[in-house]
Parts: sequence; C-alpha cells; structure tokens
Amino acid sequence: MIDKELKKRNIPDFFKRNGKTVASQEEWKEYSSSLKELFLKEEYGFLPEKLTPSIKIEPQMINFAGKANWESVYFTFKKEEKEHTVRVELILPKNKKNIPVFLCVNFGSEIPNKYLPAEEIIDNGFGIFTFCYQDVTSDNNDFTNGLCALFENSDKNEYSFGKISIWSYMASVCMDYLCTREEIDNKNVAIIGHSRLGKTALLTSALDERFILTCANDSGCSGAAISRGKEKGNETLDDIITTFPWWFCKNHYKYKNAPNDLPFDQHMLLSLIAPRYLVIGGAVDDVWADNEGQLLSCYLSSYAWRLHGKQGLIMPKKASLEVNDAFLNGEVGFYLREGSHFFSRYDWNVYMKKFKEILKRDI
Ligand code: GCU
Repeated sequence: MIDKELKKRNIPDFFKRNGKTVASQEEWKEYSSSLKELFLKEEYGFLPEKLTPSIKIEPQMINFAGKANWESVYFTFKKEEKEHTVRVELILPKNKKNIPVFLCVNFGSEIPNKYLPAEEIIDNGFGIFTFCYQDVTSDNNDFTNGLCALFENSDKNEYSFGKISIWSYMASVCMDYLCTREEIDNKNVAIIGHSRLGKTALLTSALDERFILTCANDSGCSGAAISRGKEKGNETLDDIITTFPWWFCKNHYKYKNAPNDLPFDQHMLLSLIAPRYLVIGGAVDDVWADNEGQLLSCYLSSYAWRLHGKQGLIMPKKASLEVNDAFLNGEVGFYLREGSHFFSRYDWNVYMKKFKEILKRDI
C-alpha cells in the first residue's frame, strides 16, 4: 500500500537539505526551526505578536452530578483602543490532583455538544479546556472582527496569518494559562480538534512543543493528508484555497494548481510534532479527507521520530488500507473507523485510550 502510494504521489525527500539527509537530532533541531518558518510563510501565515490577556473567572453551577468543577475563563486581549474577550470553559474532575487535560478547539461553545462528550471525558479522569473557534474570529474572509481586529493595522502582508494561525494562537494562549493552574498536570496536556480544527491542532502542536499528545480527527487536506497526487474525490489545494482562502496566508494561493511546487508536504508538519505523541483519525466514507494520504503522512513523518530514537508509526506491510485498520502502538498512531466525517464517541474513545497509555510512561 505504502509503495503504491509513494509511487503515485512522487514526493521529494524533504528530510534532505542541500543534498544531505538530516541525520542527527542536532541537525533536526536546526532544520525543524527553519521548517516551522517555511510552513508559516508558505501556508498558514505568521502569527501576530503575543499579547498577555487579562483573566476573569466565573464559576458555573453545573457540576455533572457533583463529579466536576466548571469555570468559565474569560481572556481579554487589549491592543491600543481595541479589545476582545474569548470565553474558554474549564471542566475538571473534582478532588483530583495533577489532572491531564484535553484542550479542545471546537465548533460550538455549548457543553456537552455533539463533538464534545464532556461527562464521559470527565469520567475517564480527564479535564477539558475548550473554546469555540468562532469566538476567536469568524470563519470567513472578514479580518476585522474578534482577535483579528486587534492586529488589523499591523503590517499585514501576503505572509500574515490566515485564520488557522489565529485559532492556533488562541490555543497556545490557553496552554499558557493551563501552566498557571496548580491542579493541572501541564506535562500532560493534549490538543484535539476535528476537521478544520484538526488542522488547527496540528499547526498548534507543530509550533508549540508543550503538548504531549496531538489528536487530529478527519483533518484531511492541509491537515494530515499529503497534498500531492490526489485521487478523484479527495479535496485538493485547488478546492480548499478556492472555498476557504482565509484559512491560509495569501502567499499560499500560488500553490492552488501547483501542489508539486510546495517546498514541503504535510508529513513535514507532522514531523515537527516528534518525538511527542500523535494520533491521526480517519473515517472510511470521508474520501474528501484522503485517508491514504493521511496514513502516508504518518508513515513518512516517522523518520523524525526515528531521529529521536523512537519508532513513530508501527504498521504491518499491507496491500491496501482497510476499514477498522488501527495502528496505534507507536508514538504516531493512525486508525480508520467506519462511517463518515464526524467527531464521534468512537474517536474520543481512541484518543482517551491512547492518552491513558501515555500517562503510564516514565518521565
Ligand atoms: C470542508 C473542507 C475541509 C474541512 C471541513 C471541515 O469540507 O473542505 O477541508 O476539513 O470542511 O472543517 O469540516
């Protein structure tokens, strides 16, 4: 399966620099910082300057049958005369110390919701920190609202942040905050998101190494999936840039019909997460997300884990990718569940199981 995909996609060896393969952790360290810059410059756009928000906490009454504490945390960002507040919900299992947390960038803010089974997550011993992505800024071409409005007059150019970068920015600010809370185990925070927010989770973790686990559910094109060599029915760069140009920086548009010109492919984004843990989820009917391309990305990026003395993806040699395949034993995991594009209970159970295994590791 992998050989066939490699042949079809024709991906240059991006672990090679100036004709020489990156062969040690030191070389990788240097290369990976230039790679981060390259992803920002050529795809997602540079994040704006980091602001320190003021914080206000409002306790909530609902406590999940007495099992949890729920607080709404208001982050207020100020720049010149402008300000914007984002509400982030913190739900922690009661009477627990060193709580591992899922930072979930989500589509809605109501809790629980179809993509966030809050009570089940609490019952599994995890805390939840979650915000609605559109409370940060709208999901359209308008850069004058929300957090974007604060940076409106900064030198915006073709390399400036697209919306995925801004949602990532907020996720990193959330991580800063989690590090200030005593009851949270800040060595064990996972970032998780579905679809466009799976893309956001990947970018966040590629840039911010404080996340121990990254879960990208059905993230597909411009997320985990390889951009080159798409099959009929897979989303292409042409599709995504035409429909959602605001997710990226303007400089990315030149690759619309030229994915082969990209100076990387998406497996290099995954490789920036090494040596931490990563799980990529796919759904068999979600052809749009290109599951073969997501698996290939996991396979290729594993080179970065091997540079760190780890294994990355562990999978058997197979003729084709099949429904219910699950390669979850390595630091890089991939699975393909039944059904369509959705962030389901099944997905959450896979991610929680992996997180529990990670908690048992020696640090
Ligand atoms: C569209 C888009 C995908 C994206 C998805 C989502 O289908 O083409 O790239 O992942 O929306 O975010 O739900």
